[in-house]
Amino acid sequence: MARGVEGKMRLGLGVMLSAVLAAGLAGFCQGGVTSSFVRKAEKTADMPIDSDVFAVPPGYNAPQQVHITQGNHEGSAMIISWVTEDEPGSSDVLYGTHKDKLNNSATGKHTRYSFFNYTSGYIHHCTLRRLKHDTTYYYAVGIDHTVRTFWFTTPPKVGLDVPYTFGLIGDLGQSYDSNITLSHYESNPKAQAVLFVGDLSYADNYPNHDNARWDTWGRFVERSAAYQPWIWTAGNHEIDFAPEIGEIQPFKPFRHRYHVPYKASGSTAPFWYSIKHGSAYIIVLASYSAYGMKLRRLLFQRNIATDDELQLNLLSFTGKYTPQYKWLEEELPKVDRSETPWLIVLMHSPWYNSYNYHYMEGETMRVMYEPWLVQHKVDAVFAGHVHAYERSHRISNIAYNIVNGKCQPVEDESAPVYITIGDGGNLEGLATNMTEPQPSYSAFREASFGHAIFEIKNRTHAYYAWHRNQDGYSRVADSMWFHNRCWRSPNENQC
Ligand SMILES: [Fe+2]
Repeated sequence: MARGVEGKMRLGLGVMLSAVLAAGLAGFCQGGVTSSFVRKAEKTADMPIDSDVFAVPPGYNAPQQVHITQGNHEGSAMIISWVTEDEPGSSDVLYGTHKDKLNNSATGKHTRYSFFNYTSGYIHHCTLRRLKHDTTYYYAVGIDHTVRTFWFTTPPKVGLDVPYTFGLIGDLGQSYDSNITLSHYESNPKAQAVLFVGDLSYADNYPNHDNARWDTWGRFVERSAAYQPWIWTAGNHEIDFAPEIGEIQPFKPFRHRYHVPYKASGSTAPFWYSIKHGSAYIIVLASYSAYGMKLRRLLFQRNIATDDELQLNLLSFTGKYTPQYKWLEEELPKVDRSETPWLIVLMHSPWYNSYNYHYMEGETMRVMYEPWLVQHKVDAVFAGHVHAYERSHRISNIAYNIVNGKCQPVEDESAPVYITIGDGGNLEGLATNMTEPQPSYSAFREASFGHAIFEIKNRTHAYYAWHRNQDGYSRVADSMWFHNRCWRSPNENQC
């Protein structure tokens, strides 16, 4: 009898213990949703070089690879970039608000570079200034030879309740899947500008970083990037550091081809900078920059540092006393949320990532900068690098001070939502392997290619939606309403 009671008690304790453990696991170990959507496994391959999406436009010295990006801090300038192959031709742009009356002109400059056995075409950059906000402009490039005309709409004037929709694309590449992502994005009629989180062409996956693949990529994305600004973030595939073929100047192709208005925000390099765009303040950070290129080249040339040490520095040296650190420290207090209520940060390497790819690569930068992002109530951080999709809860991990043992991410209402959107579809394929169980900070994850939009409605609300490539654009695979971190109601700014 006594044995029976003891047995029941043991059973009871066991059930209780299991329940407590299960509750604990649910509370601390298990996260949100790992999507059950199973993507058909297919090989991700680059489109052949003679694909129609890479076609060279007809005509002598025809401008190609046309793309635009914001040209100053406020959004009243636009940088127009293109390449001519036969001769420099003119770097002038004719533009105006009527298609048949391009009665304004601006003069740009051209540059070119060589990379191992490749020499680029003539790369033109021309900034159109003093543009009216929220206005459609037509512009012509290729003056004197083959002229091509495009158009864009400038962002609205910076303001509190200005609606605006951004597209989000990362790690695009030039595979068949990349083409589906871009087409899918284009079929989404809302987005007005692309926030691109790095890794453009993947030319460095070819022998000698075949820079002809930078050209094909430029022609591929022209169908969108010539008509709406793409805001550039540099990824690891932009580094193009190849000492084995004598190429030791990091970011050479990217720097020549993709200009950004970094000086307008007081930055000293094009890899970290900020812009105001409608009701958003966008801060672009550099996961792979630390100190000046000249110093790095000097170290290498004088044999003070080996290739490996340089690579290591390139990847890990994001610390204090660097130009980026100093810039960000001064930049964040400048953001006036009563002017631009939405504060968005872009970077390539994610800080919160529960896939078994690039695990913790963003950790050095997170340790340095996360407290600032929480302090300044950043609304969202978008990153790429991991070729899949993931969205976090609002969490932070900033309490740790070496001796207190507080090293877990915790819920934090002042913290941003972290979104990994490196699912553009490049030739390296999908990241499918995830850490298990799903960590508590991870709200939703799925290994599919796609794009997202961030639709700002007013100072308090923005609608975010992720679209996987397999569905029609109108179908949303993951979404959330963003409530602004500062404006909790139209009359209450908590920043
Ligand atoms: Fe990457």
